[in-house]
Amino acid sequence: MEQRLTLDIIKVTEAASIAAARFMGKGDRKGADQAAVTAMRRTLNNVPIRGRVVIGEGERDVAPMLFIGEEVGCGKDYEVDIAVDPLEGTNLCATGSPNALAVMAVADKGGLLHCPDTYMEKLVVRSSAKGLVDIRASARENLEIIAEAERRDIDDLVVVILDRPRHQQIIEDVRSAGARIKLIGDGDITPAIAAVVEGTGIHALMGTGGAPEGVLSAAAIKCLGGEIQVRMRWRNEEEKERAKKGGMDISEEKVYTTDDLAPGDDIIFVATGVTKGDVLEGVSFFGGGARTYSMVLAAKTREIRFINTIHLFEKIDRIRLR
Ligand code: FBP
Repeated sequence: MEQRLTLDIIKVTEAASIAAARFMGKGDRKGADQAAVTAMRRTLNNVPIRGRVVIGEGERDVAPMLFIGEEVGCGKDYEVDIAVDPLEGTNLCATGSPNALAVMAVADKGGLLHCPDTYMEKLVVRSSAKGLVDIRASARENLEIIAEAERRDIDDLVVVILDRPRHQQIIEDVRSAGARIKLIGDGDITPAIAAVVEGTGIHALMGTGGAPEGVLSAAAIKCLGGEIQVRMRWRNEEEKERAKKGGMDISEEKVYTTDDLAPGDDIIFVATGVTKGDVLEGVSFFGGGARTYSMVLAAKTREIRFINTIHLFEKIDRIRLR
């Protein structure tokens, strides 16, 4: 993929994050999401690509914009598949809580799994435990493997789990194995990223969350190293039918790995913070402008960039650089 596209792509999540951040703490998750979707779509249509949304806001009949299958971009070349989550953590934004993001991944055609907007059971680990853990094994078995790979005791490990009633059993299992848990209210992409990099104090992500977030996490993990394994958790027959038509193996026993979720070699993952989080700062507004913080990961060139942008909405003569 053309390196020069990177700047155009960052502008897409930057625009979505600024639009969403205007709604921070206002208790309006739908309004925040809508603002992010509109901004993302507008800017995405200025990027010189021939893109197709493969992970989006839902199917065409339920999502008016950025639906799965929608064609985006203004270019004739660069046929790419796109995964978007204009506002990851709508509740986090609505309540002003940490870790809301605007996220997008762009891959060569066929480089991202085409998957309905459903659920996945996930296991994310660092590269030290890659190929050793197995999502089909018990939490205790996997924690023993992670502990050995990280050369530490199980009680030195921290696992992130979404705080949901469905996770009661896994929470008990992780606790009884001796590991510590960070329960989160929403937003499992940031902890998936944190779980594969060192120095974050997070060693694994476990439990069931959104499938779009799973594919986006896989795109980031493809660039950063580490591993994600998932098993599909369908909500109804219609989702299964859609997936089957799209060529997916719909068995809930099938284990999808990072390479199944993000098979492309040429993948760019970009995220811009909406609210301050574990990996990125949030949007900060000042008179006449805003400042955003993004990360751009490139699988092919193995580049990791952190980009700090000052956006000037008005002609102003006083700019603060820090
Ligand atoms: P939204 O951004 O759509 O609100 O999703 C946030 C999120 O917490 C994801 O990060 C997570 O994968 C999923 O929702 C969990 O779904 P649920 O809230 O239904 O348990």
